[in-house]
Amino acid sequence: MPHDRDNEFFSSDLLDRLGLPDILKSMPKRSSEGTATGPEPKTPEEWRDQLRRAQRTILDQDEKLRRYEKHPIPYACVLSLREATEASPASAVVIYDGRIYEVPLPASVTVERGDSVRVSRETSQIIDIVDVPLPGKICVVQNAEKNTLCEVDLAGTPQVVLSGKYAGNLEAGDRVIVDATGSIIIGKIGRTEERFQFSGTTNVSWDDVGGLETAKRQLIEGIELPYKYPGLYTFYNKGQTKGFLLYGPPGCGKTYIIKAVATSLIKTHGGKGAETALIVINGPEILDKFVGNAEATIRQLFYLAKKHHAKYGYPAIIVIDEAESLLKKRGSGISSDIENTIVPMFLAQMDGVASSNVIVMLATNRPDMLDPAVVRDGRVDRKIKIERPKQDAARQIFRLNFKKTRLAEGLGIDDMIAHATTELYSKARALYRIRLAGILDEAHPEKDVPDEFRDMLLGDIASGAMIAGIVDKAISLALQRDIETGNTSGTGVTKEDVTKTITDLMQENIDMSLDAELREFGQDLSDRVVRQVQKLRQATA
Ligand SMILES: Nc1ncnc2c1ncn2[C@@H]1O[C@H](COP(=O)(O)OP(=O)(O)O)[C@@H](O)[C@H]1O
Ligand SMILES: [Mg+2]
Repeated sequence: MPHDRDNEFFSSDLLDRLGLPDILKSMPKRSSEGTATGPEPKTPEEWRDQLRRAQRTILDQDEKLRRYEKHPIPYACVLSLREATEASPASAVVIYDGRIYEVPLPASVTVERGDSVRVSRETSQIIDIVDVPLPGKICVVQNAEKNTLCEVDLAGTPQVVLSGKYAGNLEAGDRVIVDATGSIIIGKIGRTEERFQFSGTTNVSWDDVGGLETAKRQLIEGIELPYKYPGLYTFYNKGQTKGFLLYGPPGCGKTYIIKAVATSLIKTHGGKGAETALIVINGPEILDKFVGNAEATIRQLFYLAKKHHAKYGYPAIIVIDEAESLLKKRGSGISSDIENTIVPMFLAQMDGVASSNVIVMLATNRPDMLDPAVVRDGRVDRKIKIERPKQDAARQIFRLNFKKTRLAEGLGIDDMIAHATTELYSKARALYRIRLAGILDEAHPEKDVPDEFRDMLLGDIASGAMIAGIVDKAISLALQRDIETGNTSGTGVTKEDVTKTITDLMQENIDMSLDAELREFGQDLSDRVVRQVQKLRQATA
């Protein structure tokens, strides 16, 4: 074998004594391209020397590699700079791996405080500036008046840090990244306010909300009256309600009514501070976008609210929409441990602010999923149900929507509203007939319960959003018809458009899974059935 011939000058036991790696033993003595270095060895001694050199090179390289693996090039953050003097060259104080070093700064590199730099392992000199963000924590600037030091909210504790190259540019409320050791600001992210506000004021008022009379009254009581009748509230030693929970099925106006609350709050206070009076976040969004920073976000919300109060003298409303995702029952095992840190943080923030400084509003479709400590007395303790519209409320919501709609010639708005409401709540539009087996006993069989009790009608799952949608789709039908028939001046929405829209909606809902709605209906139904059976018993007794 050629392999054996290559090794003919030295025995394999010589190779073993040299301690060469196995790979060398099988290496051809010379590559076909003749890249071997130096003259070709002639004698066994020359061979041995050459192999020894190769061995040394390999071991050297190996050692270097190990060293590099253990100590990658350090990325450091510049804390301060020292100019060159006659006695000493320019240097920089850097922080690296939690320790502070002073390293030489070559004239070829210009750095600023707060820059991320690479430091040479051999010479300890700064090599260059890099664009790599060092790991850090997101904080909110609390006080930036001092021009090189800056107070930030670091995990709930105020801490003074170096403001680095941002000295002079920072203002309270700015979001910054502080390096992992909590020493220096290494980046700026932008202001907190930009992330949380509805844009400007909302233009939804109480009058735009149909139905929900009880909810409106409760909200007005809790929010407006303390300011309208401060004397009375002081007389009875009654404070502002600090927290409201709005709960109920989706699309029934939770988010919408909060906008009306904000409008009214701002109006009560003469219109000032409108830009900061409503601080809205969406639970799932916070969890997605700011992984690991949800706690910081919560602190920022309260910080902004306090700032608003200090400036304008009335509380801002912190809204957490879809709150069940953020303030989930602890230890429910549904998600990771995230709620284990967010809920206590939220509770601490709520307990830490005076009730006149902030109003917290949580909105959720799933109040059962909220951590009970959140909705305990003294925190978010005013619970307001935002329920599905019954016929009366539906008429109001239809009116709000038809008011802006062109109806067919000769068709009055009242007529249209009555028609639409009758169609939507028609007993003929049954989605499911619920079986009552198991709920009733032999004396009162299922047939004793009227069908109208057992049928889940389209009207039973009506919502404000659905009603707005019906009007919108009916308009589309009219528009389409006008285009097809060439009536380019427009003929208006007819009753038939509304009927067709509701019939289509009916079919859509039959095709869709309505598990949540059925659960809701079932709960209602069992209450009604119990009452009905009691009535039957009284009647037969
Ligand atoms: N009570 C209501 N009065 C008038 N419009 C409503 C009402 N409820 C819902 N809507 C309409 O439906 C839309 C969705 O309602 P929204 O408040 O977002 O529901 P959710 O309860 O899920 O937060 C609103 O923007 C509004 O157009
Ligand atoms: Mg909503």
